[in-house]
Amino acid sequence: MMITLALSKGRIFDETLPLLEAAGVFVDAGEIADSRRLIVPTADPGVRLITVRPSDVPTYVQYGAADLGVVGKDVLLEHSCDGLYQPIDLGIGRCRMSVAAPAGFDYPQAVRRGAGLRVATKYLQTARQHFADKGVHVDLIRLYGSMELAPLVGLADAIVDLVSTGNTLRANNLVEVEHIRAISARLIVNQASLKTVGEPLDRLLAAIARAVQVRRDPAAAGTSR
Ligand code: PRP
Repeated sequence: MMITLALSKGRIFDETLPLLEAAGVFVDAGEIADSRRLIVPTADPGVRLITVRPSDVPTYVQYGAADLGVVGKDVLLEHSCDGLYQPIDLGIGRCRMSVAAPAGFDYPQAVRRGAGLRVATKYLQTARQHFADKGVHVDLIRLYGSMELAPLVGLADAIVDLVSTGNTLRANNLVEVEHIRAISARLIVNQASLKTVGEPLDRLLAAIARAVQVRRDPAAAGTSR
C-alpha cells in the first residue's frame, strides 16, 4: 500500500529532506524545488510525497489524503487537531513566536493601559490565547503575511509573528517585546492510517524517529537498532 507524505516547500523544506533521507526516503530535492509537479515519487516505490501549502498540511493528513505530514507547530496551533496524531517533534525549523512592536513603542505601558492595543497577525488563535492568558483585551487584525509592515504604516501597534534570526524585525525597526513560545516542526500522522497501512507505516515512523534521535545525538548512531 502506498504511503503518502505531505510537506510544504516553505521554511521547513530544506531541513526536512535530509531527515527523510536519513530515514531511508530518498527524494530528488531539485526535482521538487523546480518542478510544478505536486505528487513526487521517492526512491522507495512504497512512499510518495505531495507538496502543499504549509497551512494545508494538517487538512490533507486529517482527511487521510496523506498518511503523514511535516508541519510547523505554528500551523498546528491554528488548526483543529481532530484525527491527528503528533508523534514526533522533529527538532527542525526551530524558531519562536513573539510579539514585536516598533522600537519606540512603549508596549508595557500599552498593555497596562489595557484596552485598544491593535495587534496584526496571521496566528489568530495563538495571539488570542496569549492575550487572554495575560488578561489583556486587544483588537486582532487578521493578515496573511508580511506582518512586519502593519506597525510601520499605522495598521497595528504590534504584531504576533515567527522570529528566527531576527533579521526581518531589525530590517523594519521592530523589536521583540514578548516571547510567546518555541516553535519547531512536527510529524503528524493520520490515526486511521496507523491501522489501515499498518506495518510499513510503523516502520517508516520508527525510521524517522531514529533519524531524529541521531540528529540530536550523533553518538546514538549505531545503537538502538
Ligand atoms: C517568517 C516570519 C518572518 C520571518 C522571520 O516568514 O513571518 O517574516 O520568517 O525570520 P527572521 O527572524 O530570520 O528574519 P516566512 O519566511 O516563514 O514566510 P511568511 O511571511 O510566509 O510567514
